[in-house]
Amino acid sequence: MGKEFKRHLITSALPYANGPVHIGHLAGVYVPADIYARFLRLKGEDVLFIGGSDEHGVPITIKAKKEGCTPQDVVDKYHKIIKDSFQELGISFDVYSRTSSATHHKTAAAFFKKLYDEGKFVEKESEQYYDTETNTFLADRYITGTCPKCGAEGAYGDQCEKCGSTLSPDELINPKSVISGGELVKKPTKHWYLPLDQYEGWLKEWILEGHKEWKTNVYGQCKSWIDGGLQPRAVSRDLDWGVPVPVEGAEGKVLYVWFDAPIGYISNTIELLPDEWEKWWKSEDTKMVHFIGKDNIVFHCIVFPSMLKAYGDGFILPENVPANEFLNLEGDKISTSRNWAVWLHEYLVDFPGKQDVLRYVLCANAPETKDNDFTWKDFQTRNNSELVAIYGNFVNRAVVLTHKYFEGKVPALGTLTDTDKEVLAEIPQIKASLEHNLSTYKFREALKDAMNLARLGNKYLTETEPWKLAKTDMERVATILNISLQLCANLAIAFEPFLPFSSAKLVNMLNLQKIGWDEFGGSEILAAGHQLNPAELLFAKIEDAEIQAQIDKLNATKEANEAAAAAAAGVPAPLPQKEECTFDDFMKMDIRTATVLEAVKVPKTDKLLKLTIDTGIDTRTIVSGIAEHYTPEEMVGKQICILANLAPRKIKGIESKGMILMAKDESGRMKFVTPAEAVDNGACVG
Ligand code: MF3
Ligand code: ZN
Repeated sequence: MGKEFKRHLITSALPYANGPVHIGHLAGVYVPADIYARFLRLKGEDVLFIGGSDEHGVPITIKAKKEGCTPQDVVDKYHKIIKDSFQELGISFDVYSRTSSATHHKTAAAFFKKLYDEGKFVEKESEQYYDTETNTFLADRYITGTCPKCGAEGAYGDQCEKCGSTLSPDELINPKSVISGGELVKKPTKHWYLPLDQYEGWLKEWILEGHKEWKTNVYGQCKSWIDGGLQPRAVSRDLDWGVPVPVEGAEGKVLYVWFDAPIGYISNTIELLPDEWEKWWKSEDTKMVHFIGKDNIVFHCIVFPSMLKAYGDGFILPENVPANEFLNLEGDKISTSRNWAVWLHEYLVDFPGKQDVLRYVLCANAPETKDNDFTWKDFQTRNNSELVAIYGNFVNRAVVLTHKYFEGKVPALGTLTDTDKEVLAEIPQIKASLEHNLSTYKFREALKDAMNLARLGNKYLTETEPWKLAKTDMERVATILNISLQLCANLAIAFEPFLPFSSAKLVNMLNLQKIGWDEFGGSEILAAGHQLNPAELLFAKIEDAEIQAQIDKLNATKEANEAAAAAAAGVPAPLPQKEECTFDDFMKMDIRTATVLEAVKVPKTDKLLKLTIDTGIDTRTIVSGIAEHYTPEEMVGKQICILANLAPRKIKGIESKGMILMAKDESGRMKFVTPAEAVDNGACVG
């Protein structure tokens, strides 16, 4: 507050390059960060907006193993998808690089080395699980065993997915290697720790005293971490994917991904501005703001600042960390592994040219203070009844009427009525509110302000009805349209941070060269006589069928997940129903009760029993493949059901007349079918 800054360094969490970006990432991080960056640029501020992919960490190595490729292949694939889709959505990074780059490896290694040389780390040896077959230490995720809390098999060394408990590898019963399946041994290994406990006092002062203005969710999380007592954190790992620890005797060790990733913000700045990066990172008059999701708070508010503090050398700390909560999808948690998400790259294909609709809905619904829900119905409603019906409709009416009555030239202002004056006076008030909300990271409120400006215009046209005055009072029509067009110009500016594609269209329609925040609030942006371009629609209605297609897609995902979950629990989905048969088809089958008189194994087979059956009409032989499910002794004396009129077949040289009815589930279990109570042999079933 009160502090003057010369430049703004805006960072957005580097997404893991082990999957594409979804609406949760966008609503939580990238849309608000982009709005903020665009707003400051419009104000003429010096802005640097940093993005990039986070390409290290265990999940990427697991994905590579699963897909049978290298970790580099995985990150190459997703880095491109992520980068391209961000660009298409208009996320206006000044740089979007990656942590597998040479610049980053060099920067992160040097950062570590300086802290190491200055004795800022604590070196500690501890016993860790080691896989003797692959000769590697195992990350927590690579260790599996029985959950100590719920007894489920296949829990991981960091968590049990069955009961959700957070675990440590030591708690697992019967720990095994995920990679080799083999037994594990404990072996000593050396790692470096950042002694966060030593920074506790300073963090208290800096955050709890110095940044009371941070969002309550952020401040609260910091407070509970700090009050709970901070522990030293390992900054290295035994892994072969990442930035090698630049210290002798550290072969096979890399920097922990959460140590190297935030340094990526610095590396990416260096990549863009090799000669000027220090101005951005080491000047007190740079305002640094980190945009992140709530799961990243501890790393950006406690760990990374402690790293920068330990490094010293003039590095600045964030002024604010406006972290968001999570966005859910149709009532369920978004999940990459369950494919429960709306993926940005797919949205861009399914809704071409509708980037601004997604940006609008995600900002209007942003999980700023609590978790929020995205639904396709809400998406449609916000498009049809807000973007189309209010903003689009107003602009269209103003521009079309100007073409109709004034050949597309901005008409001159006449005498102003009270209504006109009130409308004009409201514009700077809306601007002030919008600006305040943007500056304090209240993007939903800011968007409402912008929409209120469109509402104002819509209401003004509806009340003044210039189309009715055209015959009688052209001077009045001219005034109304002049004011409406000034409102349009203001809208183009107000909405630019949120809906840049529509603003560009509107700027073109109004035939403006460029727009800036300074003009916003004014009522003389367009001079009388200024020629407009033809009207084009800013937004189009989204039909029910388009929404239904998206809902169907999610339902298909849900069904696939349910089948997979049942399969994992040993309950494979039953086969789908067979094609329809007629009553006559059914009546052709002679199904009856019968009793097993004798049962013997068919020699040299595992599966076959030779059964002698009393069918009530005769005594006959049936060969049946049930030897793996019933012993001969179990079968004798049992009443069963048979298909009596099945054409006789020779099986292993034995004539078999009929078939024993068995219930067989998809996991292969077989049980014979029996009448609920004893009946005479030969009773017909049907
Ligand atoms: N990849 C992390 C995530 O998606 C975010 C890293 S942010 C950075 O949760 F600061 F480390 F880069
Ligand atoms: Zn469990």
